[in-house]
Amino acid sequence: MHRTMSSEKARKNKTTKPLDPPPPDDVLFGRSVAMLEVRRRAAKICGTNVPVLLEGDGGTGKEVLARWIHEHSPASNGQFVKVNCASIPGTLLESELFGYEKGAFTGAHISKPGRVELAHNGTLLLNEIADIDLDLQSKLLQFLQDGRFSRIGDQAERGVETRLICATNKDLEHEIEAGRFRADLYYRINVVRLRLPRLRERREDIPLLAEYFLAQFQEKFMKQAEPLSREMLHYLRNLDWPGNIRELSNGIARHVLMGAEARIAQESAASQVPSVRVNSVASGTVPLKQIAREAVRDRERNFILEALQANQWNRRKTAEALKISYRALIYKIHNGGLISRSSRLPAASQGDAPGTARSSAD
Ligand SMILES: Nc1ncnc2c1ncn2[C@@H]1O[C@H](COP(=O)(O)OP(=O)(O)OP(=O)(O)O)[C@@H](O)[C@H]1O
Ligand SMILES: [Mg+2]
Repeated sequence: MHRTMSSEKARKNKTTKPLDPPPPDDVLFGRSVAMLEVRRRAAKICGTNVPVLLEGDGGTGKEVLARWIHEHSPASNGQFVKVNCASIPGTLLESELFGYEKGAFTGAHISKPGRVELAHNGTLLLNEIADIDLDLQSKLLQFLQDGRFSRIGDQAERGVETRLICATNKDLEHEIEAGRFRADLYYRINVVRLRLPRLRERREDIPLLAEYFLAQFQEKFMKQAEPLSREMLHYLRNLDWPGNIRELSNGIARHVLMGAEARIAQESAASQVPSVRVNSVASGTVPLKQIAREAVRDRERNFILEALQANQWNRRKTAEALKISYRALIYKIHNGGLISRSSRLPAASQGDAPGTARSSAD
């Protein structure tokens, strides 16, 4: 085992891309209660070798947290090896995980160690564990029982020490009920479970994350971008973010590259209402009242936007036109994140001709 390890490590180093630097802890965990709780629990298990199950929607930071756990554990002396189970078809996944011997199957011209071996003394992250088929689940279970396995086409058993982290955005208990996931495997991998909150469940962290991404992308693209205004940050805080941190990160990258702040907001705003519905329908609960409230709020927001544009963003005139008080209008503008494009603030202001709109025309 150890005899082959160093050459395998070298091979892996040659084939893996350099990683983006991890976010500093204060960005990674932010200030929200939900994430501070994740941090507290994650810190407790770092010193041990117990399997960890990370749950959370796509883009909530499961992989980032897995790396953090790896870096803060004794396994950091070894490699952090990840396998995206969903993207590799069943039989290939087995050879990817456990490796194969030369001649084990057509095309096996050389012997190849699996990811499990590469993760010896390190951490093995199995992404989207729910997507492993039932046959391979059995083999994985055997491996987890004693750390022993065989490469495909090899009689000999090998053993490794590795820290296992599994990630999923599916409800594994539901998968068990549906007969797609083995209950015994679930109990093996679920010694400690950490659930990552959706971005909209930790809104207070959005400004911090947005500023972090802005700095990162300015450096990466060697391009200075417009700073994120207070109003913009407020607006971003109030979006739904179905794609979570990944969506926010992409939005800021777009902002740096294209220089169009409105696009961060527009694309997310366009996706926010349907996402509530899709998520709710998928989970079997349709909050009709919420949908109605959102529909009314959206109509009102669009109406106010049109009135603002018709009045060249003069808020006093707009309030008069809408027959509401000036204060009420200011409140609604603020709440809806309605800002004119020319003031470089967030705006869902399609058709707001640059140069004609003014944000402080009272
Ligand atoms: N706390 C964080 N601080 C800074 N960046 C983060 C944080 N969490 C996630 N990211 C960034 O967001 C993106 C998505 O994160 P990650 O891949 O860890 O999510 P995930 O939950 O594994 O998503 P998926 O289920 O789709 O695989 C990455 O670019 C990552 O660098
Ligand atoms: Mg992931």
